[in-house]
Amino acid sequence: MDVLVTGGSGFIGKRVVAKLLERGTVTTHDNGPADIDTLIVVDVAPPADAFAGDPRVRCVQADFALPDTFAPLMTPKVGVVFHLGAAVSGECEQDFDLGLQVNLMGTLRLLEACRHGADQPRLVFASSVAAYGGELPDVISDDTPLTPQTSYGTQKCIGELLTKDYSRKGFLDGRCVRLPTVIVRPGRPNQAASSFASAVIREPLQGEQYTCPVPPDTAMYVLSPRRAVEALVHAAELPAAAWGTNRSVCLPGITVTVRELVDALRNVAGDAIADRIRFQPDRFIEQIVHGWPARFAPKRGLSMGFQADDSIREIIQAFIEDESQESSNGAQRI
Ligand SMILES: NC(=O)c1ccc[n+]([C@@H]2O[C@H](COP(=O)([O-])OP(=O)(O)OC[C@H]3O[C@@H](n4cnc5c(N)ncnc54)[C@H](O)[C@@H]3O)[C@@H](O)[C@H]2O)c1
Repeated sequence: MDVLVTGGSGFIGKRVVAKLLERGTVTTHDNGPADIDTLIVVDVAPPADAFAGDPRVRCVQADFALPDTFAPLMTPKVGVVFHLGAAVSGECEQDFDLGLQVNLMGTLRLLEACRHGADQPRLVFASSVAAYGGELPDVISDDTPLTPQTSYGTQKCIGELLTKDYSRKGFLDGRCVRLPTVIVRPGRPNQAASSFASAVIREPLQGEQYTCPVPPDTAMYVLSPRRAVEALVHAAELPAAAWGTNRSVCLPGITVTVRELVDALRNVAGDAIADRIRFQPDRFIEQIVHGWPARFAPKRGLSMGFQADDSIREIIQAFIEDESQESSNGAQRI
């Protein structure tokens, strides 16, 4: 069986590719584990060195805003697709056409390529809690309607609806996973409006001062990269019956304020590091983040076996461990 990962050079995509290579199999079609023969990684960015030399990996550097990117890659051998590539929230707010072309048309083209070229593959679509917004209850439940207040969130909702309809028609077996904000992201801040949630931990740990663009009482719903990868693979492996006609799930995460993040950082890494953080609100970021819900009761996700992290402290410690392991290996950061 072949597996196709879009956005495989990105933060989560690289980790999903690494996890799939480590496992070597994915369980599909309720027949038990199937060996991964070829892992097709599609991204406009260059592939990560960490897996580019693996003979099972075929890297395709291509822009999926273009009409012909996916069709030539899709064959009946492709049994699982992870659709993780996307333009991020801040980019989509600033460039409406980019979001339309990459997130909306790119997703539609991928679904069409699955429909015409593959044989009912399982498709995991990385959606987001940015699908919720506006006037929301204090706690988001599985029944809360999707009322996104950003172009990015709207594109995620449309992607979910399309995935459901393609599943209903039997063109594929889709699974939509609404991810919380995934922290701690290594590297430099990106244009995701949620970038501060990682930067507030990462930058002080790397010896830098950090000016946080949202106030300390800003609450967020978060998940670690380790749990996000586990969830995406679990979503692919659950039998179709576990999804029913509702092909979406909101993942369990933990709710944390920026103040609690800073306190946990202080606790794990000490005062000198936590004192590198200052607050200076940025209206553009505040407006986007303000509409995002932070408290959830993800009963469906829990009942389907998805898991949150135990604590924010654990997430910070995992980041420190991963970073020090990678710098001691001299390996490229994934
Ligand atoms: N990281 C989070 O906190 C978070 C939260 C909710 C949902 N998500 C979703 O999860 C998925 C993965 O997120 P991530 O944090 O790894 O994002 P990322 O930005 O690190 O990775 C996305 C990848 O998509 C690629 N890409 C973007 N435009 C492309 C194009 N036109 N053609 C081909 N490739 C293109 C990028 O090069 C990048 O490698 C995304 O769909 C994102 O919307 C992420």
